[in-house]
Amino acid sequence: MPSVNGLADIVAAETELSMVDGQRGRLVYRGYEAPALAKTRRFSEVAHLLWTGRLPDPSELRELETQLTEARTLPPEIVAILDALPPEVDMMSALRTAVSAIRPRQIWPPTIEDATRIAGMMPTIVAYRHAKVTGQTPVPPRLDLSHVANYLYMLNGRAPSEAHTRALEAYLILTIDHGLNASTFAGRVAASTQSDLSAALTAALAAMKGPLHGGAPSLVMDMLDEIGSRENAAPFLRAKLERGERLMGFGHRVYKTRDPRAEALRDIVIELTQADPWFDLAAHTETIALRLLEEYKPGRELYTNVEYWAAAILRTVEIPKPIYTATFSISRVVGWSAHVLEQAANNRLIRPQSTYVGPLPA
Ligand SMILES: CC(C)(COP(=O)(O)OP(=O)(O)OC[C@H]1O[C@@H](n2cnc3c(N)ncnc32)[C@H](O)[C@@H]1OP(=O)(O)O)[C@@H](O)C(=O)NCCC(=O)NCCS
Repeated sequence: MPSVNGLADIVAAETELSMVDGQRGRLVYRGYEAPALAKTRRFSEVAHLLWTGRLPDPSELRELETQLTEARTLPPEIVAILDALPPEVDMMSALRTAVSAIRPRQIWPPTIEDATRIAGMMPTIVAYRHAKVTGQTPVPPRLDLSHVANYLYMLNGRAPSEAHTRALEAYLILTIDHGLNASTFAGRVAASTQSDLSAALTAALAAMKGPLHGGAPSLVMDMLDEIGSRENAAPFLRAKLERGERLMGFGHRVYKTRDPRAEALRDIVIELTQADPWFDLAAHTETIALRLLEEYKPGRELYTNVEYWAAAILRTVEIPKPIYTATFSISRVVGWSAHVLEQAANNRLIRPQSTYVGPLPA
């Protein structure tokens, strides 16, 4: 019997966008294995796949990349809104506020053109806001760099290496869509009322902000920072498990085998950072953690999840910790908007029922 609590196991939509197979450890986007796409394709190619159902031919790719690039320069009203927010407003709230103020060119039905514009603007919104709240001068976007390379450029003020761009690109591709997760569901519910695309994306961003959804990689980083050295890994993790605490970056509600995204990211991190002592600590800690989880939680099928190696990638490419969730959103906005388009194409208002368990009038 499916559980009402948290809607676990309840099927609430049909989708052609992504298949998450938790038993076999498989993630498929529109007929393609996600890890294979992450290793061989550009972010914009996978965005085209999700939005249209096909990988682009060279001229379609050029067209899409031109549109994404044109959106990089923010309209003045969005800049004014970001400037008006006090510095204490956190990044996800600032991003949500800015996205809510983007006026789609068409209200209903939502369009790929508007999805592209919003996806193109989001990296600049995040980089601009980050510079402002950290007292730096915002770095204007460069129009000759790819979507992902330009994001790193705006954050660090220098053109990134090919290896760093590819690593971040792989992370963004592997997190671009993931079935009916909380933020995607929120976006589809808003879209089902025939609300516009930026409203639906605002609802998705609101759900993404919570620590149970978008916030895990920074907790992994905190854990590895606390461990600090190889020798400390085993005693630290053992003490945590003795206290009944969870190890960050392990276990998953859906994957009861190895998370395919974690595997792919691990391969990429290995390729990138073999010589980095921090990577060595992460790899060693993973081995010890898996052994201890088997000892303390036998049979629970706990494996490394995507957040563990996402933390390693984000650290390697020097994304600042306060913008981890916003960086995840820069990728997931493609999945959200693809779901909004899919919902609109065959729309019926999403309106479930509740069971009243309160008192009745006397
Ligand atoms: C992701 C997560 C919330 C999924 O939880 P879930 O499907 O609800 O699993 P449950 O809470 O039912 O846990 C099942 C058992 O495994 C244990 N467990 C699950 N994840 C664990 C972890 N990371 N460390 C230690 N034990 C863990 C639970 O304590 C429980 O043990 P019990 O049977 O003795 O009570 C959970 O694995 C977790 O908290 N992981 C750490 C946080 C994290 O990495 N989040 C990012 C997810 S992408």
